[in-house]
Amino acid sequence: MGQIVGAAVVSHHPGLVQPKEIRVQRGNGRDSDLVEGFERVRAKIDAVKPDTFVLFDTHWLTTSLHLVAGAAHYKGSYTSDELPFSMTRFPYDHAGAPALAAEVEKVAQERKVAARNVVEETLPLHYPTINVIHYLGRGEKVLSVGTCQTARFKHFLEMGEVVGEAIRRSDARVVLLASGAMSHKFYDLDHVPPNPRVWHPDNVSEPKNRALDMEVLELWKQGRHDIVLDRFPELEEAKYEGRGAHYAQMMGALGGRSCRARGTQLSEYENAAGTGNVHVWFDLQ
Ligand SMILES: [Fe+2]
Repeated sequence: MGQIVGAAVVSHHPGLVQPKEIRVQRGNGRDSDLVEGFERVRAKIDAVKPDTFVLFDTHWLTTSLHLVAGAAHYKGSYTSDELPFSMTRFPYDHAGAPALAAEVEKVAQERKVAARNVVEETLPLHYPTINVIHYLGRGEKVLSVGTCQTARFKHFLEMGEVVGEAIRRSDARVVLLASGAMSHKFYDLDHVPPNPRVWHPDNVSEPKNRALDMEVLELWKQGRHDIVLDRFPELEEAKYEGRGAHYAQMMGALGGRSCRARGTQLSEYENAAGTGNVHVWFDLQ
């Protein structure tokens, strides 16, 4: 029987895969802590020994269906059309999780949840998957899950429940990775960040969004996912990345409001273009 052995919210922004000297320069003499934070997340992953990552990707926007990427292997070279000067010809090469993907579609059909498995190795990947696997992957199978832009909160929970059931029916040992930011309001093009360290939390675009992120971090630390889920409209108001689909789907897989997995913050909370970024690990064992 398959099992979820760990879970995390992780940042993926392209600044993290820029050369270190650029990251340090933008950080006013010190690198983004999210980079070293990936090593701390990896140490947590090593301790639970998964063979599969299920990665909730906040940039893979789908319409009318939840989708999972179920090909056997993904290999290619990625250039971002959004930020080509940050990511050009960035290589990726990782195994998919086709059996688990097929199981997701099967459970979805049983439950009449609008979800399908895309068995197509030319499916374009997005950098929430590519960057996180770049830092965290050590040969694990990867199942990317999209963000359905016509879904609402309850649908994300439902899809997460489908993923959780599919994992239980599989033989996979899974770490869930919710790849996305917390509050996600970009600042305007001509905005000059108040702090010279680009990554500094003072540079998050809205003080009220930063304050909400701090409250959510504290609730995650206490394992009070019930309260965070009840406050989901506030998260949506603060434009949580992917309308919070990464976190909501992950929580659906972990039992929703009944989940009490305590969070351990494994990086500083940092700004990226006005958005709030952090790595938080949730212990399940
Ligand atoms: Fe993003």
